[in-house]
Parts: sequence; structure tokens; C-alpha cells
Amino acid sequence: MPHDPFTAMKAAARESWATFGPNAMFTTKPAATLVEWASVQRDERVLDVGCGTGVVAVTAAMRGAVVTALDLSPVLLDEARRNAAISELPMTLLEGDCEQLPFADQSFDVVMSQFGHMFAPRPEVAIAEMLRVLRQGGRIAFSTWPPELLMGRMFDLFAKFVPPPHGAALPSSWGTAQVVRERLGSRVRDVEFGSGEMHSPALSPAHFRARMEQGSPPLLKAIASLHGDEAAIARLRREVESIAVGYFRDNCMTQAFLMTRAVKV
Ligand SMILES: C[S@@+](CC[C@H](N)C(=O)[O-])C[C@H]1O[C@@H](n2cnc3c(N)ncnc32)[C@H](O)[C@@H]1O
Repeated sequence: MPHDPFTAMKAAARESWATFGPNAMFTTKPAATLVEWASVQRDERVLDVGCGTGVVAVTAAMRGAVVTALDLSPVLLDEARRNAAISELPMTLLEGDCEQLPFADQSFDVVMSQFGHMFAPRPEVAIAEMLRVLRQGGRIAFSTWPPELLMGRMFDLFAKFVPPPHGAALPSSWGTAQVVRERLGSRVRDVEFGSGEMHSPALSPAHFRARMEQGSPPLLKAIASLHGDEAAIARLRREVESIAVGYFRDNCMTQAFLMTRAVKV
């Protein structure tokens, strides 16, 4: 197995994503949008990469797909197991890294990721793995946050406080169609882009920011990096809210996201 220079980063991510669970309330509807975008069919073998609490996995299983889902976080996988149990649908849930998928070549008909593989530090490794386990003629489909919109801007802001390790890509780079096209390269055909909308009810941008402080690992890490400097933390909070205000209307944060689909050649 080639050396992975990002082992420490992934070990930290494995722990920090544990707080993400409540945010699944906002990724639940986008999951239906992605599963429809991927046109998941009964009996297809589907892989959900970076599954979190299993919103995409369960949605695909409800359409009759044979689902496998993988995530770094054991805590989120436990939530995914509970969601699968409630739906009374069998699925395989595994702890793992999307840069090193524990599956044989061409194991799946559809490989999907909703705001998941975008957090891998090496996009070229993650996409090579996702395409390796996809059968020829199978579909890859994913949703990602663009750098110029709410979540992408937030993640880029937090990266100024906690820069990614040298050589790691910014997650928001997956939100630009041209970059995605280059990363997929000639290994796929029929590349198509679409967009979906994500809605997060909130009483104000400040309430949205306060909720992010409970469940968003990148913001929590940015705050921790300020070592209790209350003035600096207050400035960061204001900056977060000044981004959020542009997306706030009628007690809701609304933002578009990029969707990609393609067929493996
Ligand atoms: C923003 S959450 C999205 C979760 C879920 N797909 C959803 O839409 O609710 C990002 C997820 O990616 C997972 N993740 C981050 N890096 C990963 C990696 N290298 N391999 C697998 N999963 C990863 C995190 O543990 C987390 O569950």
C-alpha cells in the first residue's frame, strides 16, 4: 500500500466529524435529489462514499438498491445503522477512507457521494478509487458545495484559521464544474452538471452561526485555534454571520449546490 502522508489529518477527521449528526436534518432532502439525479434503480449495487448518518444510503435502499456505505466516523456510522434499522432495510455499513476503498475493482453499478468525498485531502486519489470500484458503464454521481456560495465560503474562511496540511486540496475546489471535469478526465463519458438547493431553517444568521458552533467540525476547529482569545473569536463569529446574511430569508438559510454525474468508460 503506498504511503499516505495524510494519516494524522484523517485520524483527526475521524474524531471531529462525530458532531455532524444533527446537520443531517439539512442533508436529508438533498439526498433525495442526488439519488434521483443518479437515477438509482432496484437491485443496483450502490456505494455511498462519506455516508455520514446514511441519508443517501437509506434513500437509495428505499428504491430497492443493494447498498453499501462507508465513512471515516464510527459515531456517524452508528447513527447510519440506527437509520437503516428504522427503515428495516438491509445495508452494509463500513468504517473506511474514500482514498483507500476496501472493495474489489468494478464492484458497484453506482458510486455516489453527498458532500463526502470532497473532504478527502487528495482529490485525484479519491476519484481514482471511486472509479476503480465502479463497473464499466456504471454511474458516478455526487453533490458538492461551490466555493462562491455559503458552505464553500465558510470552509474557505475556516481554512484560513486552520490551514489544511501541505498538499491537501480545499474541499470547495470540488464545487467548480471545470475542476470536476478535469478531475474526472477521460475515464468517464457523458459528464453532466446540475444544481440542487439546501435549506436550513434558522431564526437569524446569528442563530445559524450558533448552531454551526455545535455541529460543524471546521468551525469548531477554527474557534479552538484561537485559544480562548475572546476578541478574535468574536471577530470570527461576525465574519461567519456576515457571510450567512446573504443567504438568509424568511427564517431560512438557502444555498445551491453543484451536482455531477457521469458514466465510466
Ligand atoms: C458534510 S458530511 C456529509 C455526510 C453525508 N453524506 C450527508 O450528506 O449528510 C461529510 C462526511 O464525510 C466523511 N468523510 C470525511 N473525510 C472522509 C474520508 N477520507 N473518507 C470517508 N469519509 C470521509 C465525514 O466523516 C462525514 O461523514
